[in-house]
Amino acid sequence: MKNLLVTGGAGFIGSNFIHYMLAKYSDYSIVNLDSLTYAGNLENLALIQNDPRYTFVKGSIDNYDLVWDIFQKYRIDSVINFAAESHVDRSIMGPQIFIDTNIRGTQILLEAARNFGISRFIQISTDEVYGSLGDTGKFTETTPLSPNSPYSASKAGADMLVRSYYKTFKMPVLITRCSNNYGPYQFPEKLIPLMIKNARDNKPLPVYGKGTNIRDWIHVKDHCAAINLVLHNGKEGDVYNIGGENEWTNIDIVKTILKILNKPDSLITFVTDRPGHDFRYAIDPSKIKRELGWKPEYTFETGIAETIEWYINHQSWIDDCTSGQYQHYYDKMYKDR
Ligand code: NAD
Ligand code: TYD
Repeated sequence: MKNLLVTGGAGFIGSNFIHYMLAKYSDYSIVNLDSLTYAGNLENLALIQNDPRYTFVKGSIDNYDLVWDIFQKYRIDSVINFAAESHVDRSIMGPQIFIDTNIRGTQILLEAARNFGISRFIQISTDEVYGSLGDTGKFTETTPLSPNSPYSASKAGADMLVRSYYKTFKMPVLITRCSNNYGPYQFPEKLIPLMIKNARDNKPLPVYGKGTNIRDWIHVKDHCAAINLVLHNGKEGDVYNIGGENEWTNIDIVKTILKILNKPDSLITFVTDRPGHDFRYAIDPSKIKRELGWKPEYTFETGIAETIEWYINHQSWIDDCTSGQYQHYYDKMYKDR
């Protein structure tokens, strides 16, 4: 298990994972296949771009010929599939690309993996495939899938295909389902970096509905450590839930950010709710803790403070992400909302 294909490695979690793996293992080679959508950013990988163990290929996971060439040329033995359209709000504005990348792209990767034979295929899924919780309860690996947005439906579709390749072709596939990540290199369309950016700029902080929806936050490095354990020690055909057991209402997250940045709560603006907005996510991670010995290293207090500091120390990173198309997206999503 030394020639890894990481897809979507120029995005938030994928780039953190590449940094994590190259720092941890001296003898692994990583090929990063990423089509560089608006969310893909090679700046995230600037620190390792000349590392001889790392190769970047620009292209899509739904390009059959390219994927075939990569498996052959780099003798890929393991796949970690992060590549996806990942933002719920964008899936509401335009679902088609979510189907093309998240479902069709995953199927092409599975076919290539089947053709060439691999030791591991890790599908990076999400807790959102389980749908929404009420005030109580947690998602376990046996919770039925009940996705509510085009994004989560496309991820659930991919999970079903991955499962079918295990059942039908006995392929060594595993699925991880993680809760909301935070940390460095997250595109500022997602809650935490968006609010940090707007607070920095003294712009309104758009909170959907009443801000009472709940998410279960985990530091991206804890997620990467969990994926690594699943890659090496997980059981073929199994699903592993990953979560920080760290639930927050959105309004409390936003107020925490404002407090750390020493900005006034008056920047908060309540806006029209997201259609079909899932009320609460909460992961029960007891399986991965018990079976693989994983536990999160970060407390939220330390993690969020470090994360805010990272964004404040990387202002040009934020500014580069938010030049060009971003303003157009932002206006379409938030103007007159
Ligand atoms: P992201 O949007 O930051 O990055 C996605 C990356 O995939 C980008 O680099 C993009 O260029 C690339 N990409 C998109 N379409 C592609 C294609 N057709 N071919 C090749 N590359 C393509 O997303 P993220 O937050 O890093 O999420 C990574 C994965 O983790 C996704 O599969 C997502 O569903 C899952 N996930 C995310 C979270 C979270 O909180 N962000 C939580 C659980 C699971
Ligand atoms: P998001 O980061 O988009 O992740 P997801 O929807 O996949 O959980 O949103 C996290 C929560 O924050 C979600 O309940 C929606 C809410 N939210 C806002 O209130 N305002 C915003 O501008 C954004 C982007 C999200």
